[in-house]
Amino acid sequence: MSAELASRGGEGTRMFKFRGVFFMPEIYKPEILEQVEDFSVRDDDVFVVTYPKSGTTWMQNIIALMYMEGDVKQFENIVIAQKVPWLEVQLNVIQARPSPRQICSHLPYHLMPKEFRDKRSKVIYVMRNPKDTLVSFYYFYNMVKHLDTPKDFQDFLENFINGQVFIGSWFEHVRGWQENNHPNMLWLTYEEMKKDLPAVVRRISKFVGKHLTEEQLLAVVKHSSFKAMKASPTVNKENLDSVFDLTKGKFMRKGKVGDWKNHFTVAQSEWFDTIYHERMARLDLDFTWDMPQ
Ligand code: A3P
Repeated sequence: MSAELASRGGEGTRMFKFRGVFFMPEIYKPEILEQVEDFSVRDDDVFVVTYPKSGTTWMQNIIALMYMEGDVKQFENIVIAQKVPWLEVQLNVIQARPSPRQICSHLPYHLMPKEFRDKRSKVIYVMRNPKDTLVSFYYFYNMVKHLDTPKDFQDFLENFINGQVFIGSWFEHVRGWQENNHPNMLWLTYEEMKKDLPAVVRRISKFVGKHLTEEQLLAVVKHSSFKAMKASPTVNKENLDSVFDLTKGKFMRKGKVGDWKNHFTVAQSEWFDTIYHERMARLDLDFTWDMPQ
């Protein structure tokens, strides 16, 4: 077993490291992560893959609604993780599901199932400007009971850059998936979802081959707005009070592009840009966010 306990940040909380990646023991189990390797992938599986805080729940909501043809009544009271379950947590649930399955994952490429390398199942990879991802993650860290509350923003910034956070390095996550890009992958950004959600939903429906009428498509869009999702207790994870301290924040926090500008100092932003360009060099990334050249 390649899991080892690793103390992070001293006070109380511990994450364990599985093949170089940090996980919370309260939610993730090394034996399940090991089983993921031999998980039997089906050609018509659709995977939603993200680094944390990049718009995962948003995409889970869109995909679930899409397969329910926009009928929000069917799914109102079901928690989001039952609609699009987590590969790294809910293996039994997924194995028992009929095809086509919709599956979610935060796993870096190297922890995905072996069969996944056949590149036959579809993948939707959602990325977000890493600075906004970091800010969202900072607030998430403040409200998750199993994670050490960061000392301050600078402390969290350093941990993020060094990959000393849940799921590890953003840079390695994006790089690992980019280096294994293939025609069955759809790359989307949080920013383009904000800019034109109907267009993104149309692209997804074409990509997964799930035909929707215009009315159904507009229903998917309507019920995937920030306002609609924030109003849903099952989406806002209000049932998960064992995980979230809801006195410290809300899962559906701001839902904005560019909130990083309210958190990074000029020096922190410049430092981040330098690291970004060093680590993401030679990747064919065409991001819609305003990362300086
Ligand atoms: P903020 O903390 O910046 O508000 P994830 O699901 O990957 O954990 O990402 C959570 C982030 O996505 C949060 O960002 C959350 O508010 C945002 N989000 C979720 N649904 C959204 C929606 N419909 N529109 C815009 N942002 C959304």
